[in-house]
Amino acid sequence: MEGSSGEAPLLSIDLRRCLLKPVTRERTVRLSDMKEFFTDPDAVERTLSRRDPKIYEYREFTPKEEPGHLSVGITVVYPGKVGREYYMTRGHFHLKDAAEYYYCIAGRGILLLQSKSGEVAYVELRPRKIAYVPPGWGHRAVNVGRRRLAFLYVYPSDSGHDYGVIREKGFAKIVVEERGRPKLVDNPRYST
Ligand code: PA5
Ligand code: NI
Repeated sequence: MEGSSGEAPLLSIDLRRCLLKPVTRERTVRLSDMKEFFTDPDAVERTLSRRDPKIYEYREFTPKEEPGHLSVGITVVYPGKVGREYYMTRGHFHLKDAAEYYYCIAGRGILLLQSKSGEVAYVELRPRKIAYVPPGWGHRAVNVGRRRLAFLYVYPSDSGHDYGVIREKGFAKIVVEERGRPKLVDNPRYST
């Protein structure tokens, strides 16, 4: 007997190349796709006048978008900055207040977390560590290293993604480079 049958998929994962098979959803996000998520509009325009860098990409498998199922995927955030702000994912809240696990495969990152009442927390992402996103907390992965940040994630398939509040105001904190090191500072564009 080999593989799997019927309703029970067997996935293949290539940790070095960050590939997953099969894939039901995949996306490459470039700077032009997420201009409003970075806090320095001049730095965004300066970068875009030269090129439109890839910021991150993900590949995901969802068995069924129905209660009870789990989705799994791999995200790669490229190294780089827009002004002082490190490359990052857009970040979102799950519509159904679902929790999520992030297993770091490679690189160095910060998982920025924020509750709906504006409480802020963070978790370091380092290889072989697993970070937990509690239900109801918004989350964004920031690459603070010189290489790719890669992580595997698992969350309930019917969670849904809400980008609205974060697109409008961002997180209360942002992660910037200061004297060659990552630092969490107040987001100048955030208002309660
Ligand atoms: O659900 C998650 O937290 C991740 O799978 C993200 O969707 C992925 O990392 C891409 O980030 P975003 O959805 O914020 O663009
Ligand atoms: Ni999520």
